[in-house]
Amino acid sequence: MKSLLLFGATGDLARRMLAPSLFGLDCDGLLPDDLRIVGAARSHLEQDAYRSLIEGALREFVEPDRLRPQCVAKFLDRVRYVPLDVTQPDQFLALRDALLRGEDGEKPADGLRIFLSTAPSLFGPTIAGLQSAGLTGDETRLALEKPLGHDLESSRAINDAVASVFPESRTFRIDHYLGKETVQNLLALRFGNALFEPLWNAQGIDHVQITVAEAVGVEGRLGFYDETGALRDMVQNHMLQLLALTAMEPPAHFDATSVRDEKVKVLRSLRPINHETAMTHTVIGQYGPGAVSGAPVKGYADELGRSSATETFVAIKAHVDNWRWRGIPFYLRTGKRLPTRSTEIFIQLKAVPHSIFAGPGAGLLPNKLIIRLQPEEAITLRVMLKEPGLDRAGMRLREAPLDISIPNAFADFRRRIAYERLLLDLLDGDSTLFVRRDEVEAQWAWIDAIRAGWAANGMTPRPYAAGTWGPSAAIGLTERDGVTWHD
Ligand code: BG6
Repeated sequence: MKSLLLFGATGDLARRMLAPSLFGLDCDGLLPDDLRIVGAARSHLEQDAYRSLIEGALREFVEPDRLRPQCVAKFLDRVRYVPLDVTQPDQFLALRDALLRGEDGEKPADGLRIFLSTAPSLFGPTIAGLQSAGLTGDETRLALEKPLGHDLESSRAINDAVASVFPESRTFRIDHYLGKETVQNLLALRFGNALFEPLWNAQGIDHVQITVAEAVGVEGRLGFYDETGALRDMVQNHMLQLLALTAMEPPAHFDATSVRDEKVKVLRSLRPINHETAMTHTVIGQYGPGAVSGAPVKGYADELGRSSATETFVAIKAHVDNWRWRGIPFYLRTGKRLPTRSTEIFIQLKAVPHSIFAGPGAGLLPNKLIIRLQPEEAITLRVMLKEPGLDRAGMRLREAPLDISIPNAFADFRRRIAYERLLLDLLDGDSTLFVRRDEVEAQWAWIDAIRAGWAANGMTPRPYAAGTWGPSAAIGLTERDGVTWHD
C-alpha cells in the first residue's frame, strides 16, 4: 500500500490544483491501484466531510464532462483525512496509526510520498514530527511547495532542516512553472531541432524579454503578498527558471542531474545587480486605482487599508555573464493588475547583416521568436515576407507570423494542469522538473543583492494605474537600449 500524504490538505492549492490534478491522473489510469491519498490539516473534519470538500473542489475546478461518476467515486475512495496540528509532536503517532489502520500491515514508510504546502514556518516541525513517528524511511519522498524562505539565509535554514532528514535525491522542490507544457516545450524546441541552436547565442540574438503579466490583483493574499512583493513572489522562482531554461547550454541528457547542472551554471552566471546598478537596471511599481478589462479596481494600498512599500511590479535588465550571452540583455517584467494575463518569452534575433532590398517598403525587421505560455500556448516565429503584388518600385516586405498554436496542433490531447506532471514525477521519483538546492540558493543570492540595492538607494515603488503596463520608467528601461517591450 502506498500513500500520498498532503499537508495543507484543506488549503487553496489542494482544492484548486492538487485534487483536480490527482483526479486527472486517476481517471487516466496513471495512479498506482493501491495509492491512498491522505489529507492532513488542522481542521477537525470527519472522513466524509473531507471527501465532500474534495468532491466540491472537483466540481468547481474540473470541466464537467470529465467528471464521470465512476471516476469520481473511484477517486474519492482513495481519499482519507487525518486532523493534525503539526506543532504537536504526539499527533504524528495518530497520523502513523491512521496510515496503518485497516490496511494490510505494511509499513507506512514504504512508498510514502509527502507533499508539503503549508506555511514554511511549519516545515521544520512537520519534518521533525514525521521523523519521530518513523515516517521518513529510505523510500519516502518529500515535495515542498514555495515559498522556500524569504531570502538566502531563511532558504538555507529550510534546506538544512530538510537535508537533516531527507537526502537531496528524495527532496522535490516545486516550481509549478516547470510543470507547464510550454516550459518543457522550450526544451523540445531548443534541443529537438537543429534550426535554433546555431543562432541561440550573442551572435544570433539581440535580446530576450521574459514577461509574466497578470491582470489579477493579490487575490485575498494581502498579508503574504505585502511581506513578499513581486520580486520574491515571481522573479526569484518562476522567472529565473524560465531564464535558466532559455539560456542554458545543451545538457548531455534529459535527466535530473544533467538538466539541473546546466541551469545552475546560468543562475550562477547572472551578473549581480547591486547598490550601484539597482537604480539603472531595475524599476519597481505599485498599482493604484484603475480599470482592468473595463471594470474599475481599487489600488493596492486601498485594498491593504494602508500605504505600503511593497512592489507589485518589477522590471529588470539582467545579464548572463558567460561566453554564449556576452553583452545580451535579458529583460524581465512581471506585475499584478496589468492590462492582461500574458506569459511569454520573446527572443529578438539580430538584424540581417546587409539588406539587398531598396525602395519604399523594403525596411527589414529582425526576426522574433515568441514562446507563449499563457493564456494560450503558442510558438510564433515572425519573419519577413514579400507582400503579394506587382510592386514596380522594388519588393515590398512585411513581417508575418509562422504560428503554431499548441492546442490546435495537438487537438487530440487534453491540456494538463502543471501539477499533474509534477505529481506524476513525484510518484515516479523523477526530479528533472524539480528545483535543486543549489539552484534555489543561487536564485536567492541574486535576488537578495537586488533588494539590498533597493534599500541602499532608498528605492520605493513608483505608482502605476491598474490596467496599465507598469510605471513609465519600465518603458524607459528598455527604450534607452532602443528596445520596445512586446505587449
Ligand atoms: C504563484 C504566485 O507562484 O504564481 C502568484 O505566488 C501568481 O502570485 C502565480 O499569481 C501565477 O501562476 P500562473 O500559473 O497562474 O502563472
